[in-house]
Amino acid sequence: MEKNFVILGDICYAKEFGKLECSGGSYLVCENGKVKGVFKELPGQYRSLKLYDYSGKLVCPGMSDIHLHAPQYAYRGLGMDLELLDWLDTITFPQESKYADAEYAKKAYDVFVEDLKHSATSRAVVFATIHKEATEYLMEAFDREGMAGYIGKVNMDRNSPVFYCETTEGSAKTTLEWLDDVTGRYENVHPIITPRFVPSCTDDLMKELGRIASERALPVQSHLSENLSEIDWVHELAPDSKGYADAYDRFGLFGSSGKTVMAHCIHMREDEIELMKKRGVFVAHSPQSNENLRSGIAPMRKLLDHGVKCGLASDVAGGSTINMFKAITDCIQVSKLRWRLVDDTERALTFPEAFYLATVGGGEFFGKVGSFEEGYEFDALVIDDSSARTILELDIQQRLERIMYLGHAGSIISKWVAGRKLF
Ligand code: GUN
Ligand code: FE
Repeated sequence: MEKNFVILGDICYAKEFGKLECSGGSYLVCENGKVKGVFKELPGQYRSLKLYDYSGKLVCPGMSDIHLHAPQYAYRGLGMDLELLDWLDTITFPQESKYADAEYAKKAYDVFVEDLKHSATSRAVVFATIHKEATEYLMEAFDREGMAGYIGKVNMDRNSPVFYCETTEGSAKTTLEWLDDVTGRYENVHPIITPRFVPSCTDDLMKELGRIASERALPVQSHLSENLSEIDWVHELAPDSKGYADAYDRFGLFGSSGKTVMAHCIHMREDEIELMKKRGVFVAHSPQSNENLRSGIAPMRKLLDHGVKCGLASDVAGGSTINMFKAITDCIQVSKLRWRLVDDTERALTFPEAFYLATVGGGEFFGKVGSFEEGYEFDALVIDDSSARTILELDIQQRLERIMYLGHAGSIISKWVAGRKLF
């Protein structure tokens, strides 16, 4: 596959937190699937490469959605009047149990992957369900369509309905079988250890998952401190833990064995924030989900000031849309409410800061991803903002900001992931 080419367009990307690099009518060079650089004049050695002329269109890095649930895509935008624990019992668990049926799973995952492919997301960290066969199909579909990601078979052996629950031994055994099937099978799609959250996993299962993650040097994903009733429940279920974060950490599931991402992290104690920083655990901030499920507003400024690694996420179907343009502007908007209503020392996030989180911030979970600096993986979007009509003359940053606030994900006309053109 041809992974050496040039894109001409109005280029915009983040390098440092809080600042965008914009360069109108410039050339973005891809060499062997990696970014070579952005050039105002195309250097001679690249003039023979294939040129994609997107003059007048915006070109920015692809985005990383570092937490979403693939099986929940089918019912996105439905059942949004419940808080987390009731929502899981009433809607989520019955819906996810349907993926025991491989044919149903294929149909649903084909729709999900096709839509994700045409969205702003290049890379995703994904929960599947407890089912091995369906999870393997999802990984295959990701690879087939050229998407990159970490995908996890979910583990649940307690506090779950009989029709959607595993035994401790069964959960560990299926996980090992799944890992044997998929490890090393795809270039850009990899497995991730996925205890659903503390209430769904016994200590014995957590211990086993920690051992597997550590032995096989695998990444880990889960949920942390999303909802107040959930946190009280975790304290009851894990009375010997220092807190929710420690309920993972004591099993080696909090960054000590492998790269780890925790969704939400809304109601966090100072010592837990410090532990996240120390262990390099990523926060997957899902502002829309946190509104829909009435969970709260994550202290993003505080987490960032403490040096915790942060990225953005849709958390579909807690969030109703996979549109990362919305995740960027929702992140800014809820940070303004937090500053106004909760703590006026926590400055609201700016557009360049939120854009950084959606690209470089979350991209770091995958390596050198999310920027157009030399050596980064070549993930790019071409955006045609001409349908969002205005008579104003706008600069590149204004055009980018505006298309994100308008949420026009349909304006993405071309996309590359790891140097491969998806459409
Ligand atoms: N906590 C445990 N499971 C889930 C889930 O599916 N969605 C969200 N938002 N939180 C969870
Ligand atoms: Fe989630």
